[in-house]
Amino acid sequence: MLTPRILDQGWSVTVVDNLLYGQSGPAACAARPGFRFVLGDVREEGVMRSLVEEADVLLPLAAIVGQKACERAPRLAREVNVDAIALLNRLRRPDQFVIFPMTNSGYGATTGQVLCTEETELSPVSLYGRTKVEAERILRATPNVVVLRLATVFGPSPRLRLDLLVNDFVYRALRDRFLVVFEKDFKRNFLHIEDAADCFVHCIRHAREMGGEVYNVGADEANMSKEELVRLVKTYIPDLYVHFAEVGSDPDRRNYIVSNEKLRRAGFVARRTLQQGIEELLRSYAMLRPGPYHNA
Ligand SMILES: NC(=O)c1ccc[n+]([C@@H]2O[C@H](COP(=O)([O-])OP(=O)(O)OC[C@H]3O[C@@H](n4cnc5c(N)ncnc54)[C@H](O)[C@@H]3O)[C@@H](O)[C@H]2O)c1
Repeated sequence: MLTPRILDQGWSVTVVDNLLYGQSGPAACAARPGFRFVLGDVREEGVMRSLVEEADVLLPLAAIVGQKACERAPRLAREVNVDAIALLNRLRRPDQFVIFPMTNSGYGATTGQVLCTEETELSPVSLYGRTKVEAERILRATPNVVVLRLATVFGPSPRLRLDLLVNDFVYRALRDRFLVVFEKDFKRNFLHIEDAADCFVHCIRHAREMGGEVYNVGADEANMSKEELVRLVKTYIPDLYVHFAEVGSDPDRRNYIVSNEKLRRAGFVARRTLQQGIEELLRSYAMLRPGPYHNA
């Protein structure tokens, strides 16, 4: 989703990915001028050294993403999410910019009542959150780093992840016509995948002004409880049966709302709505066969 947008600006892009999930998304850009794909592992210094050297901006997206995927392979998660970031940071010159996608799940389990700003203490509840917090600390000890604390992303993409909350709820609602929801009052913050990609481009353009800072990135109107989200999904699928479970818990105990004010002052606002994303997902799911559309 991000690479074509960067190419649209007339810039060149090198993607390094080991295609861990057997995906072929980058192939869509293969014929475009300025694009290069390297099948490789970001943990390998021999792969990364010369590639890092020639870049103006580094976007370390490669990671083991999500709580389940990290818990299934904790050593790999640490190597990719922390050690590979430390390697990249050691290989780069101080004048090369890094734009790092951090998860706002670092804010962890709060009361869900107070707006988390970039100053709010990070208290991650999962191994995934902890590895990302550690990587952020490594990067922030050095100059020219922009940290984007992204909300939970939603919306269709070439490797559509069904383990993201909105994507998951819409998929189950459509296919099963029922949903069991734990901790219905827990609040989360969401971001359309196209806004996430646009935000990276904005940061590349304004790297000099934005370097050295941390920004929350989410849609203001998409700070909401799971119950509110499910009720929104139900407006599209009226015969959806929802059970709000009083017993049992969601292992992912995130509960927080987030202020996006600082990013707004830096010139970027996420504009796409949850309604738009849900409609796009419903259209996309008509093309999706049941399969492993998740990280774990
Ligand atoms: N999706 C979200 O809601 C969200 C929110 C906040 C932050 N992020 C961050 O954004 C980034 C991208 O997330 P995503 O949702 O696109 O996840 P994803 O799992 O779709 O993408 C991760 C990519 O990294 C690649 N990869 C994994 N290990 C690798 C290795 N050793 N070498 C090279 N490539 C490797 C995978 O093949 C995959 O293409 C991650 O850093 C994630 O922590 C995502």
